[in-house]
Amino acid sequence: AGPCDIYSSGGTPCVAAHSTTRALYSSFTGALYQIKRGSDGATTTISPLSAGGVANAAAQDTFCANTTCLITIIYDQSGRGNHLTQAPPGGFSGPDTNGYDNLASAIGAPVTLNGQKAYGVFISPGTGYRNNAVSGTATGDAAEGMYAVLDGTHYNDACCFDYGNAETSSTDTGNGHMEAIYFGDNTVWGTGAGSGPWVMADLENGLFSGLSSGNNAADPSVSYRFLSTIVKGEPNQWAIRGGNAASGSLSTYYSGARPSASGYNPMSKEGAIILGIGGDNSHGAQGTFYEGVMTSGYPSDATENSVQANIVAAKYAAGSLTSGPALTVGSSISLRATTSGYTTRYIAHTGSTVNTQVVTSSSSTTLKQQASWTVRTGLGNSACYSFESVDTPGSYIRHYNFGLLLNANDGTKQFHEDATFCPQSGLNGQGNSIRSWSYPTRYFRHYNNILYVASNGGVDTFDATASFNADVTWVISTGFA
Ligand code: AHR
Ligand code: AHR
Ligand code: AHR
Repeated sequence: AGPCDIYSSGGTPCVAAHSTTRALYSSFTGALYQIKRGSDGATTTISPLSAGGVANAAAQDTFCANTTCLITIIYDQSGRGNHLTQAPPGGFSGPDTNGYDNLASAIGAPVTLNGQKAYGVFISPGTGYRNNAVSGTATGDAAEGMYAVLDGTHYNDACCFDYGNAETSSTDTGNGHMEAIYFGDNTVWGTGAGSGPWVMADLENGLFSGLSSGNNAADPSVSYRFLSTIVKGEPNQWAIRGGNAASGSLSTYYSGARPSASGYNPMSKEGAIILGIGGDNSHGAQGTFYEGVMTSGYPSDATENSVQANIVAAKYAAGSLTSGPALTVGSSISLRATTSGYTTRYIAHTGSTVNTQVVTSSSSTTLKQQASWTVRTGLGNSACYSFESVDTPGSYIRHYNFGLLLNANDGTKQFHEDATFCPQSGLNGQGNSIRSWSYPTRYFRHYNNILYVASNGGVDTFDATASFNADVTWVISTGFA
């Protein structure tokens, strides 16, 4: 059985079921998600390898070979058509065209399930999915449940990495108009024990970790690599539960009455579905989503415990974030451009500006050092890399406003993540393309000989599709110095 078969047996059927990694019903054979590639704008759908099985990641890899792919639709497996698509503008406008949020890269969250490769949905700040024209989800004070499997190591303190029930207008229509799972270390509204991240309930104008606004010490900091999260609610009763999605059982972090603050009892749920954003399209948060559902009715703890056992049996494990020619930690490297007319240029820096410069064996020692980089274990994720300046130890290439800068490591989580990059096989068939870990739609790109993290066809000038594959591909060799 799949998670939704279990919810059905418990009398609380799924009314929305979303996953890019696997079927959530044992008989499901339809499309799990749709992707769109950068080379020609073509789309395709990815389905399970077999009924009830794991997504056909190889089909995605073939379709996306030598280009970029975005996740355009996350289909609803429940049959109700509650698909998630690019979130529209609301209280806040997104960064993409016409105020829409960005779409996620199709390769930002590689995993294996029982050894079979699949991809999750890696939400960078600015990214979001939504459905405001839903069927069958809870409205008003009606009962519902939801779970989501997330990456407990990928979060931030911005508003709001959510999955669940929100406003149909994409605007803040008042307390109690949402009921969604939140994950992260935002401290504006609620907190739990320790410094976070926490699973909380986004009930609109408040992230709740328990009965009262503010701190509820029974809600623990949780950072399992694969994290099971649950929020459920019915008249004057709601709960937060969570656990390790790779082993063991769920714990109940809160179960009891609705908050006494005005507007949350009874609830005024509207039934739209959000992923990666807040109810009003706040889009500053980050996180990773693998699978999740919403139910009709308040699931019993026993039903949820069976769903947790099903998730554990799916055997989520981390996948490889890198491909192509390997890098050696501790070595000094040079990175040569592959764009025709620019192939004598290497990634270098002038002060804090990262650029390309023509470098040869007879260049000055100063220039050779400026064009040489020490490979370090990724500051923000040890499965990827950071690049330390040979002439300015302690300073690393990082992105800032999507430009690349050479900055001193200030020790912050933000810096570490901005300075972490995942090399993959070069998009033009040579060497490596170097993907931002935290914004996996973006790659090291030279544009007018200045370095950016660019997306293929994004809103900035440096995102131009012309020459994209060549501009993001680098031949990596031994450093000059
Ligand atoms: O409740 C927290 C956030 O507050 C909601 O997600 C958003 O709509 C509002 O800004
Ligand atoms: O480069 C994008 C973002 O810009 C970085 O993550 C952040 O440090 C800056 O605001
Ligand atoms: O960086 C040099 C060139 O500038 C790039 O190849 C091109 O895309 C841009 O015009």
